[in-house]
Amino acid sequence: MNLKKLYFGGIILKIDAETRLVGVIGNPISHSLSPVMHNAAFDALALNYIYMAFQVEKDDLEEAVKGIRALGLAGINVTIPHKTCVIPFLDELSPEAEMIGAVNTIFNRNGKLIGYNTDGYGFEMALQEQAGICLKDKNVFIIGAGGAAHAIAGQSVLSGASSVTLTNRTFEKAKSLMEFLNRSSCRCNQNAGKIIPWDKDAWRSILPHSDIIVNTTSIGMKGQGNLALDIPWDSIKKDAVFFDAVYTPMETLFLKEAKRLGYKVVSGLYMLIYQGARAFELWTGKRPPIEVMEKAVLTYFARKGEQDAEKTRE
Ligand SMILES: NC(=O)c1ccc[n+]([C@@H]2O[C@H](COP(=O)([O-])OP(=O)(O)OC[C@H]3O[C@@H](n4cnc5c(N)ncnc54)[C@H](OP(=O)(O)O)[C@@H]3O)[C@@H](O)[C@H]2O)c1
Repeated sequence: MNLKKLYFGGIILKIDAETRLVGVIGNPISHSLSPVMHNAAFDALALNYIYMAFQVEKDDLEEAVKGIRALGLAGINVTIPHKTCVIPFLDELSPEAEMIGAVNTIFNRNGKLIGYNTDGYGFEMALQEQAGICLKDKNVFIIGAGGAAHAIAGQSVLSGASSVTLTNRTFEKAKSLMEFLNRSSCRCNQNAGKIIPWDKDAWRSILPHSDIIVNTTSIGMKGQGNLALDIPWDSIKKDAVFFDAVYTPMETLFLKEAKRLGYKVVSGLYMLIYQGARAFELWTGKRPPIEVMEKAVLTYFARKGEQDAEKTRE
């Protein structure tokens, strides 16, 4: 029988000559949750696809992208550090990718490589599904100005937020993100917003008017500080929603404190799940099984937690 079986992340995959390959390119890539999430979804819908992770050096990026076309891959996710540098090698960009200036998903449409950005969609859906809040007419306060901030700020403008306020440790980076937002918001007939200094007093002035408070910095990842200590909690309105792009840990100290004080919180894990769900839909044309994808990443985290605890005991 022309059928091999492969045990992959707890799932039995059937691989044959018709199996379609998708995956993720980045560097480093061994931490990626995407293979676990997508392979669980393919398995649940009995789709003949397999998702792999590829570590690609910057100098090899063009060759890697040509390989998508040459080998007939259905598509690929793109992660750090290639989200912007990959653009010149693509045939077309979606309006979101063009606006955000970065690509996290490539779809191979009959040899034509189209770049999408599903991160902003992931952010919007995470807020909607986990906290029941939409971006339209909301005041969004964004801490940070890196890659995640670009997608989140861009999506906020695209979805009709009333204002976007940025703060970042390195002012120049916030300035460059605001310039980018100004260009994009002109296209959407929106006001882009403003930058405020990286200090508690400045934050105190904006927080009473903020509906959605977003951390996009890496503060809160293991060993990388605690943003909760810098938030003037007494200045935040009662119905504000907190979002943290960080998803390792799944619930940062920033979110834990917000939750303790009675605010709705949304973990970056859901942005990850929904950006993946959108990519899945682009590649397969099928409705993504969100609950399966969520269960796969939560199970992965639970197992990893057990393994880490085991290591600490040894
Ligand atoms: N949930 C998701 O789907 C998703 C998607 C993308 C990213 N993320 C997560 O979002 C986080 C940021 O990723 P990124 O791609 O935006 O990274 P990035 O482009 O490298 O940007 C990092 C940001 O963090 C700030 N920062 C880092 N350390 C800091 C510190 N000690 N104090 C103050 N600011 C600090 C940087 O400020 P400076 O400009 O001053 O350096 C910059 O604003 C990561 O945890 C990543 O895993 C999640």
